[in-house]
Amino acid sequence: MKSRIITLLRQRGTYVSGQELCEKFGVSRTAVWKAVEQLKKDGYQIEAVKNRGYLLKEDATRVFGRTEIESRIKTQWIGHDLYYYDSTSSTNVQAKKLAEEGAPDGSVIVADQQSAGRGRRGRAWASPAGMNLYFTVLLRPTIAPDKASMLTLVMALAVAIAIRRTLGDDAGMARHDGEAAKSATAPAVGIKWPNDIVMDGRKACGILTELSLSVEQGSIDYLVIGVGINVGRQEFPEELQGHAIALEEISGHVSRSELLNAVLSAFEGYYAAFLASQDLSCLKKEYDALLVNAGRQVRVLDPKGEFEGIARGICDTGELIVETQDGEKKNVYAGEVSVRGIYGYV
Ligand code: BTN
Repeated sequence: MKSRIITLLRQRGTYVSGQELCEKFGVSRTAVWKAVEQLKKDGYQIEAVKNRGYLLKEDATRVFGRTEIESRIKTQWIGHDLYYYDSTSSTNVQAKKLAEEGAPDGSVIVADQQSAGRGRRGRAWASPAGMNLYFTVLLRPTIAPDKASMLTLVMALAVAIAIRRTLGDDAGMARHDGEAAKSATAPAVGIKWPNDIVMDGRKACGILTELSLSVEQGSIDYLVIGVGINVGRQEFPEELQGHAIALEEISGHVSRSELLNAVLSAFEGYYAAFLASQDLSCLKKEYDALLVNAGRQVRVLDPKGEFEGIARGICDTGELIVETQDGEKKNVYAGEVSVRGIYGYV
């Protein structure tokens, strides 16, 4: 009921009588009063005036937690099963545990802090409290296991689009490649293939997808897509300085719960398109438009032999198409090889 009260007070922007709240939620005045007292404890500024009712004064966008997230989520189905933790080891680890216990398709696991946040290649993901977004989406798609890696790109697209929508398309007027802005509409947020979100040439978000196969059928039992977005200004660990960026470095305040809703809403639409075609054919154009590597020189660190070429976008299955000097187009597989920009981070 707390999130529904907040949603209603936010929508109205004026006093809502206790009587109306009682009738709407089918509870007593005392129950409404108690819920409002809890909301105040959560950090919401609610004014109660006799004969007028309750008013949400300043929409406390710094508040983060189950109630706030529930009140912001506007998706059709993803995130309707929400698990929120003030602190957990890792939302991916938690998601896998919940999946084993039967948590449904589309569950979303969010934490304010992770004590053992996980990055790719066995690295740690620094996850301090109170400033960033850490969440995992649990999915149970009926697709072949070899298609699962494409979902990481689907999520990357959703995150990039959500950040752009949240910050405004020309937010910060910084170009994603680190050069000075040439026009007010130059994109500030881009994707470094396959799934890093970069702003101003630095990484703002990482995505870690993990898969569990059913032993008998060899089909996907579930997969978890974990997303970490740097939101608040912060001191990054030394090894990340110059390579990491937070959204609030190029914008004003960003509400983590609104950003989460923007990501999940975008993902829901892209995921439906992906499931329909079982590939990235419908999303390729949008993905390529945000690809910071596109048209740039890249070095492919292929264990079979390194080579250089110009990145030409992705193919229907998400591999990066790299055109070598002699005009040959090679498909580069994520995971097997690493792509480095010749100039700078991207
Ligand atoms: C990367 O190394 O780029 C991937 C980082 C993924 C971090 C997120 S934070 C939420 C989820 N839980 C984790 O432990 N990791 C992912």
